[in-house]
Amino acid sequence: MNVEQIFSNNRKWIAERLKIDGNYFKNLSKGQNPEFLYIGCSDSRVTAEELMGVQPGDVFVFRNIANMVPNNDLSAMSVITYSVSHLKVNHIVVCGHYYCTGVKAAMQSADLGILNPWLRNIRDVYRLHKKELDSIDDEEEKYKRLVELNVQEQCINVIKTADVQKANKERNLKVHGWVFDVHSGKLIDLKIDFDKILGEIMEIYRII
Ligand code: CO
Repeated sequence: MNVEQIFSNNRKWIAERLKIDGNYFKNLSKGQNPEFLYIGCSDSRVTAEELMGVQPGDVFVFRNIANMVPNNDLSAMSVITYSVSHLKVNHIVVCGHYYCTGVKAAMQSADLGILNPWLRNIRDVYRLHKKELDSIDDEEEKYKRLVELNVQEQCINVIKTADVQKANKERNLKVHGWVFDVHSGKLIDLKIDFDKILGEIMEIYRII
């Protein structure tokens, strides 16, 4: 894949869209009204729109290494505030994926420079769930379970924010935890019991 190919693909894509709807870009330029905020990994194999089968305008997307929502990350917090309180999304998805190299890196002892503080957030997830993870003998299964638990913990970080608590109360905004299985292409709903988690964590994190 070279740069010329990308521009050629773009021209082809414009022509295809206009063939279906002559006003496609005119309508797209009017604004956005997405129903979903998707928080996922930057991994090149996990493309939000493609795996969800959605079109431009459907999903507000935020991606970083290992789909993290650190409490003091200005970028993550701005994305949540803007999409929830201004765009009024009704669903927030945190989508992790099996075979995530970010999660894998956090499980190994290596000095990765500026990545250290970022990956330390995943090490904290491991520490929180050490008992369960240490009881899994199979390394691959342990790694997959850490991916799931990381999604769960990042969902909790989403729920900790004032904007999300307010929108949940006012318009029943939902938070979902998903995992994309790179081996099968399947999107898995972790069916995290948010009412239960909400009940447990709100005692500590309630801010509205
Ligand atoms: Co990843």
